[in-house]
Amino acid sequence: MTDPSSLSESQAAERVHTLRQQLDTFNHEYYVLDSPSVPDAEYDRCMRDLQALEKAFPSLQSETSPSLRVGGVPLDSFQQVRHELPMLSLDNVFDDEQLLDFDRRIKDRLKTSDDIEYACEPKLDGIAISLMYRDGVLVRGATRGDGAYGEDITVNVKTIRSIPLTLRGAGFPPVLEVRGEIYLPKAGFDALNVKARTAGEKGFMNPRNAAAGSLRQLDSRITATRPLEMCAYSVGLVEGGDLPGHHASILEQLHEWGFRINPEMRVVGSIAGCAEYYEHLAGIRDSLAYDIDGIVFKVNDITLQERLGFVARAPRWATAHKFPAQEEMTQLLDIEFQVGRTGAITPKAKLEPVFVGGVTVSNATLHNADEIQRLGVRIGDTVVIRRAGDVIPQIVSVVESRRPATSTGEVVFPSACPVCGSAVERTEGEVVARCSGGISCMAQSKRAIEHFVSRKAMDIDGLGDKLVEQLVDEGLVANIADLYHIRWDDVVKLERMGEKSATNLLSAIKSSKVTTLAKFLYALGIREVGEATARALADHFKSLDAIEAASEEALLEVDDVGPVVSRHIVMFFANEHNREIVERLISAGIDWPKVEENDIGGKSLDGMVIVLTGNLESMGRSEAKEKLQALGAKVTGSVSAKTSLLIAGPGAGSKLAKAESLGIDVADEQDLIKMLGSDA
Ligand code: IVH
Repeated sequence: MTDPSSLSESQAAERVHTLRQQLDTFNHEYYVLDSPSVPDAEYDRCMRDLQALEKAFPSLQSETSPSLRVGGVPLDSFQQVRHELPMLSLDNVFDDEQLLDFDRRIKDRLKTSDDIEYACEPKLDGIAISLMYRDGVLVRGATRGDGAYGEDITVNVKTIRSIPLTLRGAGFPPVLEVRGEIYLPKAGFDALNVKARTAGEKGFMNPRNAAAGSLRQLDSRITATRPLEMCAYSVGLVEGGDLPGHHASILEQLHEWGFRINPEMRVVGSIAGCAEYYEHLAGIRDSLAYDIDGIVFKVNDITLQERLGFVARAPRWATAHKFPAQEEMTQLLDIEFQVGRTGAITPKAKLEPVFVGGVTVSNATLHNADEIQRLGVRIGDTVVIRRAGDVIPQIVSVVESRRPATSTGEVVFPSACPVCGSAVERTEGEVVARCSGGISCMAQSKRAIEHFVSRKAMDIDGLGDKLVEQLVDEGLVANIADLYHIRWDDVVKLERMGEKSATNLLSAIKSSKVTTLAKFLYALGIREVGEATARALADHFKSLDAIEAASEEALLEVDDVGPVVSRHIVMFFANEHNREIVERLISAGIDWPKVEENDIGGKSLDGMVIVLTGNLESMGRSEAKEKLQALGAKVTGSVSAKTSLLIAGPGAGSKLAKAESLGIDVADEQDLIKMLGSDA
């Protein structure tokens, strides 16, 4: 750190100049090019140096200093500004037919039948901004407002790091107005809401509202803490210089001068290309780092744009193809409290069906009691539903102005389990409320059985949730151990069950008995013991007896096991009822190969894709297959790039050749025997 008092004014001026250049470059690399060259700490150091120098030498302050990125003195109000050229909006189309009409209108007006070239861009869901540069210096940032008049938010705009305070490079017109969108990326939005909620505040409804709220701050120091970004999509007023003749080239030029432009922008040769682009973007929409609400298509040739001109408030040369809305309003009809496998009680909202995010939604999760309280939701309320991509629909807010005058009181979280009537408990510090009925609660038993039979657990084919429901309701099964004692005669009598299905079910139950220790542990449904933990436990202790006998301390030695998990494991096996169930399962014949080290697949074969070929002497191929599967491997019939190992006996032919050509490991029968363990 340079000590400001040791410098003369001219030395300080030189140092300030260097620091500003460095900081502008770091900003540009990080926020515009997405490729930082120095760690954040170096940026922070330079910023602190610059701030100290500017404080010691007030004459060196400047309207373009990167120190303005942290915000300045709060304003009393925003000034109104008149846009030199009005800020227009876009017409919308909602399907391919309307898109074709748009293209047809353009061709008619231009009196041509030639294909039109379009620039295609995501329609960012943020706030439109106008940035005025005079001689390359940012002099004004203004909101769109009503299109004719906006608000001067220059100080706030200067805190946004992807907006250049001075243009880079050369050749820019003396007057250049750049237009674009300010938005909050999804990650920044999530982080902001976590922060707000931890502070007991309500949080924002969506990234767009959060961006608008952040920009509307009179205290720019607050705006500076919000991870806003800006992406340029057009120009407004241009004086004293020329820009390229095509929209896409103008954007490239803006990028050279220091702006972020959308990397998804493409130029297509005809309207058919626009339709393809729409499908492509709709497919990757959820994986983008920011929200988009549609696609914008613009005639690429500026001369043609000028010939086409405007109607009312929108250009004839552009349109937005909007995606189906991700947020809609509907009515909350009821709240159902569902009981999960570990007794967790989850409130589920029953909604008046509504079309949102491309599907009809009639249920939404409400997470927990805190969420109900946070939303302050009541039955009968009009609520805003959001469904983005494959995400479970959420209730984002209540439209309080639409609350019926006759609205009954707030939603009461049940104090007794809605299924078995046992007390509902909530451990201090936990958000989840649970039914205390344990295995005696029918809902918990059903969920426990569903988990036990699921694919990653005991993998009992054909035993879906509906059948579990029937088996429990008919009194044929009360817990997981009962599954191995059901009788064909009883099963066949169940509704919608034929003889063949009954036979298949019993045979699937029987074949599930050969498993792995890890899968069995996972299947037991011990709280906090997921697949990976179960595998780690099996690898570490190697036998069920050892795990049952392990103390909390001994369990803590396993990678992946912390104090909470170890306590749940000890508690599980300390429970007499649980121990009895485990014993019954083992005596029903559930078994697994001994867990042992081997030199090919490590401790277990989980995740390995193995192919068997040629003849084996010590066992049949199907026996080998079963044993490999029991250790967690997937055994497939043909060699591909996904194959991890080929086991080849004498007589192996084309599969061996293919594996060798793909560079896949090849093992022989001796290796196989070692992999399966000594008593295989
Ligand atoms: S061009 C004259 N391009 O959508 C055309 N607008 O109603 C001016 N928007 O509020 C707009 N992404 O802020 C254009 N790539 C994009 C855009 C975009 C988002 C917003 C714009 C305006 C609204 C259009």
